[in-house]
This record gives sequence, structure tokens and C-alpha cells, in this order.
Amino acid sequence: MTGRRTRLAVLASGAGSNLQALLDACALPGFPAQVVLVVSDVPTARALERARAAGISAEVLEPRGFPERAAYDAALAALLQVRGVEAVCLAGFMRLLGPRFLAAFPQRVLNVHPALLPAFPGLHAARQALAAGVKLAGCTVHFVDEGVDTGPIAAQAAVPVLDGDDEAALQARIQAEEHRLYPEVVRALCEGRLRVEGRRVAVAPPAG
Ligand code: GRF
Repeated sequence: MTGRRTRLAVLASGAGSNLQALLDACALPGFPAQVVLVVSDVPTARALERARAAGISAEVLEPRGFPERAAYDAALAALLQVRGVEAVCLAGFMRLLGPRFLAAFPQRVLNVHPALLPAFPGLHAARQALAAGVKLAGCTVHFVDEGVDTGPIAAQAAVPVLDGDDEAALQARIQAEEHRLYPEVVRALCEGRLRVEGRRVAVAPPAG
């Protein structure tokens, strides 16, 4: 199949392992998206190197150049629009996005979070899971709204919490699932198979 591919931007502040998973997926024949731009708010983010290594243009947009969040959001939205971006994946992007940005990409912004939301939003989700003593942890891919990890949930994957797990071990198990799940949800979004109905997201099966 050689259908048109959705133009994706990935926003990342850190290591970029989820960016890498998306880049790898986009390199597969028939994947319905292409990453056209990676933006980071952190000039030293490893994600930028990963983008450049894949031949994808990588930009830094630092918040300190902007008087307020709305101005940053507007500049970020403009940067993406100039490149014809149609959907946005947050992959460890450590900033909240406000209405100026989200209105530019309605129901077209996804995030991945390392917990089974609505449990353990925010930072250090694996640490929170261990502290709470849960037996199942996991990851969530959700549409982004103005809250912290609060948008409608598109997909989740669970992993066991094992006796003896420390934060790093649990985080690694969760991340392996993130790398599998995020591209799957991006594929569904780009194939028009996700429908947001209030808090719920209906996911239609792949065609054929
Ligand atoms: C991931 O665990 C993701 O769930 C969270 O931030 C982390 C980013 O990791 N939002 P990476 O930069 O993709 O390796």
C-alpha cells in the first residue's frame, strides 16, 4: 500500500526512546505516517540526535525566549504549521500545552505516559506505582488536553510489578510496552480509526 502519509511532529525533552520507536515504525513499509519534524525545549536532549541521525529536521524552541506560556505555545504551533504538520506526538515532552497550541491541532495531539492512568499522573510514575504497592503497572496513550495526563485514553498496556523490582527495572518493563503501543495508536489515528466521544475513545479495527 502506498497511501498518503500523515505528517507528524514529535515533541521531546529527553532521551527520545519513544521518538525512536516512532521513527522505526515510520520506516516500515505501509506505515501511514512520517515524522517531518522533531522539536525539543531542551538543546541537549538526546532526542535531537536521534532525529538528526534519521535525517529528520530537529529544532530547539527554548521557553526562556518567551514572556509567557501562551507566546511559546503560539510559536510552537506556528513552527509546526509552517511544516504542514497534521498530528503531534508528545514523547517525554516536559511542558504543558495550553489552548493556543491545542486549538491548532484539535484531537490530533497524543501523549504517552508510563502508568495506567488515571493512576499516577505527573512525574516519576513508576516510583509512584512502587510506593503504592500495585501489582500491575503499565502505560497509557491518550489525547492531550490542558491538564497533566488527563486527556481521553486511546489505549493502555499493563505489565506486572515483580517482587524485587526497583524503579529502573519497572520503568524498563513499562517502556518496552510504550515502544510497542505508541506506534500502534499513531497508526490507528492516521488511519482514521480513533473517535473521541467525551471521555471515551472508540477504536475501530484495522480495515481488511
Ligand atoms: C516515557 O516514559 C514517557 O511515558 C514519559 O516520558 C518518558 C520519555 O522517555 N512521558 P523517552 O524520552 O521517550 O525515552
